[in-house]
Amino acid sequence: MRIVLLGPPGAGKGTQAKKIADRYGIVHISTGDLFRDNIKNKTPLGQKAKAYMDAGNLVPDELVIALVEDRISKDDCQDGYLLDGFPRTVAQASALSEYNEKVGKPLDCALSIEVPEDKLVSRIVGRRVCPNCGASFHIKFNPPKQDGICDRCGEKLVQRKDDTEATVKNRLDVYNKETAPLIDFYRCKGVLKAVDGDQDVDIVTADIFKALD
Ligand code: AP5
Ligand code: MG
Repeated sequence: MRIVLLGPPGAGKGTQAKKIADRYGIVHISTGDLFRDNIKNKTPLGQKAKAYMDAGNLVPDELVIALVEDRISKDDCQDGYLLDGFPRTVAQASALSEYNEKVGKPLDCALSIEVPEDKLVSRIVGRRVCPNCGASFHIKFNPPKQDGICDRCGEKLVQRKDDTEATVKNRLDVYNKETAPLIDFYRCKGVLKAVDGDQDVDIVTADIFKALD
């Protein structure tokens, strides 16, 4: 199964992506996580991406498209993948469609997680993430079993650098301008499914499985 996950910053893409990937046995590819790994490892790509990310702006299309096409061409993606945080512009979506057409492996679904904008800021500012396995928690809405420690791998949780109130506002503006048009893009292609992301994490997961099964 080949899926793209749509939704504004804080919608729960990362939270749900891990569960979807486990259930359907597909690879979870988060462009945000790939860039954060590159920044941590001080690669040339990471150095190029860092300033954009810290400010909550998009990394230029050509860098992201090359990164994703390279990743989905790998062996472990041949039976499917879940893209989280890509595409984010019409140019990225068009490039992905062209690539998928070329290799004869079209998308099965674009799944949009819908959450009202006024809920997103508190979700993001309270988020804590695992620098080791990428799991995402929230100090109030989705706390780890042990304070400050990842449930999945035991690593100490951290706050993302772009998870400040000022940066979040810019990320939401960028989402509304650049990424929200993709909902119509995929609706026109007949692959759009939407779920209500403003419910308990487990209920959102159940709704997603219902939509995908
Ligand atoms: P990226 O890492 O993709 O960040 P984002 O899109 O801003 O999305 P988030 O990761 O903030 O939100 P999420 O939907 O994953 O929410 P989560 O599950 O963590 O991108 C970061 C940056 O990288 C971009 O700004 C850009 O610079 C660059 N970039 C990445 N991809 C790019 C691309 N394609 N093109 C160009 N640039 C790119 O949940 C959020 C919080 O809410 C958590 O604390 C969680 O515990 C909590 N939560 C989750 N579900 C619920 C629920 N149902 N109820 C209550 N709380 C919940
Ligand atoms: Mg995420």
